[in-house]
Amino acid sequence: MTDLSYCAALKAVQQQTAQQDNLPDKRRVAASFSKAATTYDSVAALQRAVGHELLARVPMAASRPLCWLDLGSGTGYFSRELAQLLPDSEGVALDIAEGMLRHARPSGGAAHFVAADAERLPLRADCVDLVFSSLAVQWCSDFGAVLSEARRVLQPGGVFAFASLCMGTLVELRDSWQAVDGRVHVNRFRELADYQRLCDASGLMVRGFDVLPHVLHYPDVRSLTHELKALGAHNINPGRPDGLTGRARIQALIAAYEQFRQPAGLPATYQVVYAVLEKPLAD
Ligand SMILES: C[S@@+](CC[C@H](N)C(=O)[O-])C[C@H]1O[C@@H](n2cnc3c(N)ncnc32)[C@H](O)[C@@H]1O
Repeated sequence: MTDLSYCAALKAVQQQTAQQDNLPDKRRVAASFSKAATTYDSVAALQRAVGHELLARVPMAASRPLCWLDLGSGTGYFSRELAQLLPDSEGVALDIAEGMLRHARPSGGAAHFVAADAERLPLRADCVDLVFSSLAVQWCSDFGAVLSEARRVLQPGGVFAFASLCMGTLVELRDSWQAVDGRVHVNRFRELADYQRLCDASGLMVRGFDVLPHVLHYPDVRSLTHELKALGAHNINPGRPDGLTGRARIQALIAAYEQFRQPAGLPATYQVVYAVLEKPLAD
């Protein structure tokens, strides 16, 4: 899938990094998102809203990017948005899931489609003006490496804009499972303070950093869990329970989640971090 022939920005694709911490194995992440490529767009309302919120925060007029990188580009929706907003630009869509890239490629947007890991970018230094990343870096166990790679590939004055999820995301589902069996059924998310600390230490200038809760409502628990699966974002952490989830435990989960019910339905909270960072003109 890596298209080396057209992109001057590319050098040899480096090996994927090993799994660290408690976050899921990258092969599992890639397989899960590849499998979800054909269903993702039909259930990605939150992902659309977050990406548009992030786009609105990118200082397009000031930075006027000519070369951009959509990091964790998924089905390519925001690559196409970037291409429309920046008609004279050239873009790279990069994702760890080859299935996502295969799905995205026929719809265009980016000029180049690259299968690679955000923690080890196969791009040369100082080659892009904008790194845009919506709801992807929560899957990266070494966020410090993502920041340092973004800094390396950005031109001086270039912008890294990302939206990601922090702790507190899917708290209702996590707490409901906790009440049932105390086991890991929900993806783990980094603490907001860790995002802040790593951004502050990245050598990039922090131009914007805040967190906004987005709350979605569902008629029942099954609608939520089906949606997570269709997005490829269901639980793939190490330590997740194996096998099918028994009927009695599902009933217990439903009962526990009902405690959170609001007039609009069962809430699912997403805590979204939005950040805009800029590479200094002189390092
Ligand atoms: C929730 S989707 C978001 C896709 C797109 N940015 C959007 O907003 O619709 C997350 C994407 O990040 C990709 N991803 C996860 N870990 C990655 C990594 N380490 N490097 C590159 N892409 C990654 C997944 O394969 C998936 O396509």
